[in-house]
Amino acid sequence: MDQWMVIKKSTVCSFLLPPLILSTIIVLHTLNTSNSFTSIPPKGSLIDHNKNAIYEVTKDNSQVLLNGNHDEEACDLFVGSWIRDFRGSIYSNRTCPTLPTLKNCLKHGKDPDYIFWRWKPDGCDLPRLNPSMFLSIVRGKKLAFIGDSLARNQMESLLCLLSQVDTPVNKHKDADEKFQTWYFPSSDFTLMVMWTEFLVVANERIVNGTASNSFDIHLDKINGNWSDKLPGLHIAIISSGNWFFRTNYLYKGGKLVGCIYCRDSSLIDFGPVYAIKSAFTATFEFISRCKECEEGMVIVLRTYTPSHFEHGSWFNGGYCNRSQPLSESEVSFNESAWKIRESQVEELGKVQSVEREGKKKFVLLDVSKAMMLRADGHPGSHWPRIRDVSDCLHWCLPGPIDLWNELLMVILKNNQ
Ligand SMILES: *[C@@H]1O[C@H](CO)[C@@H](O)[C@H](O)[C@H]1NC(C)=O
Ligand SMILES: *[C@@H]1O[C@H](CO)[C@@H](O)[C@H](O)[C@H]1NC(C)=O
Ligand SMILES: *[C@@H]1O[C@H](CO)[C@@H](O)[C@H](O)[C@H]1NC(C)=O
Ligand SMILES: *[C@@H]1O[C@H](CO)[C@@H](O)[C@H](O)[C@H]1NC(C)=O
Ligand SMILES: *[C@@H]1O[C@H](CO)[C@@H](O)[C@H](O)[C@H]1NC(C)=O
Repeated sequence: MDQWMVIKKSTVCSFLLPPLILSTIIVLHTLNTSNSFTSIPPKGSLIDHNKNAIYEVTKDNSQVLLNGNHDEEACDLFVGSWIRDFRGSIYSNRTCPTLPTLKNCLKHGKDPDYIFWRWKPDGCDLPRLNPSMFLSIVRGKKLAFIGDSLARNQMESLLCLLSQVDTPVNKHKDADEKFQTWYFPSSDFTLMVMWTEFLVVANERIVNGTASNSFDIHLDKINGNWSDKLPGLHIAIISSGNWFFRTNYLYKGGKLVGCIYCRDSSLIDFGPVYAIKSAFTATFEFISRCKECEEGMVIVLRTYTPSHFEHGSWFNGGYCNRSQPLSESEVSFNESAWKIRESQVEELGKVQSVEREGKKKFVLLDVSKAMMLRADGHPGSHWPRIRDVSDCLHWCLPGPIDLWNELLMVILKNNQ
């Protein structure tokens, strides 16, 4: 009965599945996860990789974050599965004023079923994002998402989540929205996104007067467009990867050393994994040595997430119309996506273990596994399309990408 009330009260559910299917799912759900909505606090507390953080689930189901040290109850936040959760999101396209139309999948006809899942770490529960708590953790701070359009996607998610309790003010937005600054007056919190495809310097090759979509990438030169803006930041969330998967030319010490997917037999094809790893080596080394950076700056690695195109790609009719998360057996943890994640984590480990300027903290936000399972969470054909192109790379809002910010809240709390 409780659960039925929850569903009826929820505004996002008003357009849900036919009642018969719905009630069947509720029954199954009740049998499977008897804890989700009841007043019995799930057992277990949780930690992340970076430091032990303890949560306690209170009787009214609002989770409270506590500090403590309970190693024996350790729970890996990044290892788990997606389970049904009919509470849905804390925001909708009606309550998020900044929700971009490209991510407004419901407006473009996507079935809302994909919203009703939550990430369940094995052995503990991840609390829902509490926007007031998030804002109190980042009070007076400056946070930047640094990366490509997926970094921007995470910022868009965070804007929606936090705008449930405070209206963000736009302070800056360049013409192509690659650099943006938002401000939350209630907590003096500044949220930024800084665009960089590769983290390192890269210049697009011009062939016969037209942009070729291929880049000359300098694996050992940090791109000043974002790195010049590091001083003053308290939190930087770093990500990269997807732009490496095309014909690119690789340089070290200013010399051409090889390529990615090139047809030039005189060059060594190193492939994207090597190039991404090198870019992260350079990035982490640069940040760890940054003298002008804030004391105690927190640098977060948001790990790689691949696209879910099937039978093609952006360019030749690939699509993604799954209606449920994939099962683990449907995902290959042996392909380049996972290798990229592993090399990013390895580079993070190196910088964590060396002496760093100014008490900086390098921490992990590992979303790779969770997102590799969410083939159903992309806009697919449900966006204002150019021709017949599906978007199987970015994430719908609301949607599974909101998890990144739920995890981020735990990480920031633990590294205050
Ligand atoms: C919000 O989503 C609903 C579908 O759930 C859609 O009908 C509506 O047009 C959307 N509204 C806006 C303002 O995007
Ligand atoms: C920095 O940004 C400018 C403007 O977008 C761009 O023209 C330039 O190529 C970028 N620099 C690098 C190293 O990518
Ligand atoms: C560039 O233009 C020249 C002359 O029109 C042509 O021969 C050449 O194939 C073009 N190169 C490429 C890469 O398209
Ligand atoms: C997904 O799209 C393909 C190609 O249009 C179609 O054959 C398939 O039946 C669709 N699957 C679902 C679950 O809609
Ligand atoms: C995973 O990849 C390695 C080499 O890349 C290969 O030797 C191994 O057989 C693969 N394993 C599976 C289960 O595909």
